[in-house]
Amino acid sequence: MKTETLKEDVEFRHVVADDDMTRINVGRDDGCPQPRKTSGAIGACVRTVHEVTYLSPLGYLLGIEGAALLRGLREGSADQAFVEARITEIRTLLDTPSLAHAEGVTANPGTITTGDVYRDWAPHYDSPGNQMIDIEQPLVRRILDGLPVGTALDAACGTGRHTTYLQELGHHVIGVDASPDMLAQARKRLPDVEFHEADLHRLPLADNAVDTVVCTLALAHVPELAPVLAEFARVLRPGGNLVVSDAHLLVSYLRPTLARRPGPDGLPSLLAEYHRPLSAYLAEALPLGFQVRHCEEPRRPRNSLNPATAPDPLPTYPSWDLLHWCPEASAAALDDSPIVVIWHFQLEGVQEG
Ligand SMILES: C[S@@+](CC[C@H](N)C(=O)[O-])C[C@H]1O[C@@H](n2cnc3c(N)ncnc32)[C@H](O)[C@@H]1O
Repeated sequence: MKTETLKEDVEFRHVVADDDMTRINVGRDDGCPQPRKTSGAIGACVRTVHEVTYLSPLGYLLGIEGAALLRGLREGSADQAFVEARITEIRTLLDTPSLAHAEGVTANPGTITTGDVYRDWAPHYDSPGNQMIDIEQPLVRRILDGLPVGTALDAACGTGRHTTYLQELGHHVIGVDASPDMLAQARKRLPDVEFHEADLHRLPLADNAVDTVVCTLALAHVPELAPVLAEFARVLRPGGNLVVSDAHLLVSYLRPTLARRPGPDGLPSLLAEYHRPLSAYLAEALPLGFQVRHCEEPRRPRNSLNPATAPDPLPTYPSWDLLHWCPEASAAALDDSPIVVIWHFQLEGVQEG
């Protein structure tokens, strides 16, 4: 995996905002009501480009040990005992025959598509135990609770998790997703809702058709934010609200996408994903006329890994289950780190009527 920094002059490093956002609305100083192309000067855009990746169980675990050490040093939680425990554990891992002989896989990105992944995942997507969803859901709901009721689009609605809540709040809801398998689950759950199989880049809606757009845990699948955010701006009425959640950039380093299973060509494959710093959202959203109402980076809870869980057996593929081979290092690397970013934007302008 290679990280390509397209622009280094980051203007927005970290924004947590609840109030009037004119302070950070750089690039909108002319009051221009039309969407404007990003100048490139506001905000860096870091794009994650996956090339061939060799995934070895031992390499992954040594990486976790390294992340634990670096974080401990940075945050002042690494005392002598902690550092020595890491070094001892690294030696043990290196000397463990099953790990030393565990074969890695060379994974090519892109031979497996989001459609392939969600075909497999659709029947289980709503099963309990998805930590990202557990953390994200109440925070997204809290924002939705405060919005005026009207017509709402759940863009990349998946199985209809937030569609259901929007309907309960009284919105007229439309769901759009590219995966027929995820949509099948959504239709089963909400037979009265209007669902469309469509892409985020070409929403099957007229201009100014909705009051609210919700797009959760899906933008990491799109290589460029700008065209999708422009679609959201097109279908939103002036003054409309956009609520977004997305996997946090740190997740891509601390808990990277791992090869799930062979792709259609029979070879191990990685799903291409695009993780971005907060500046990238701002760089694309502000010139379209979106203003920030809220931004939040909730963290993973502490003790999210049960240290008592036995590390055996070794998974056939490098897997997040490997974390149980070094629970203390995993906790030190992962606990209390931001897991998602949640945005509430509002399109400038005033609703008519
Ligand atoms: C992790 S799921 C999230 C589903 C739902 N929003 C939620 O939060 O539960 C990501 C969804 O994005 C959809 N998706 C990914 N890329 C898409 C695209 N370009 N157009 C439409 N849907 C897309 C996938 O099919 C999948 O259902």
